[in-house]
Amino acid sequence: MEVEKALFKVAVITASDKGARGEREDLSAEVIRELVTRQGWTVADYRVIPDDYDVIVEALIDAVDRGKHDLVLTTGGTGLGPRDNTPEATLAVIQREVPGLAEAMRMQSLRKTSRAMLSRAVAGIRNRTLIVNLPGSPRGARECLEAIMPALPHGLEILTGRAGECAT
Ligand code: MTE
Repeated sequence: MEVEKALFKVAVITASDKGARGEREDLSAEVIRELVTRQGWTVADYRVIPDDYDVIVEALIDAVDRGKHDLVLTTGGTGLGPRDNTPEATLAVIQREVPGLAEAMRMQSLRKTSRAMLSRAVAGIRNRTLIVNLPGSPRGARECLEAIMPALPHGLEILTGRAGECAT
């Protein structure tokens, strides 16, 4: 039976000091948009913000509480640098972690590069929105989003109440 794909509303937030200053082209957001669109979903909001913890917290809360997005994908700021604040900002706004998504991203990515272990990306739920951190490089963003994409439709259906149970 042909099952219609649910249309989810996605926000993309790029955390990048250089990007926010207009000094770097945001290729990662383009990659994310390509994969989201291929899925049949819509990127309804997109913003580039500096790596400040408070600014990221505010942007995440805004995307969830005001924007009512089903999925918020961040890119950048997951590494070990002093300005890499995205995981901490995400942990501050989520109510429940979804560790399997971060585990899957790192597991798949480690097959390609040992540097994957340097991403501290987290994923979690605020209200009925799923927030997922992706690394900042276009390749990292692609590989990580591709790693979790097979499970996202079902996860979002359950989270948003469009599917009642996991049995198939
Ligand atoms: N994951 C994948 N799949 N592919 C990559 O190229 N780059 C790594 C890692 N995760 C990478 C990856 C590197 S080099 C770093 S420093 C961390 O992500 C953190 O990147 P960020 O600070 O830009 O988020």
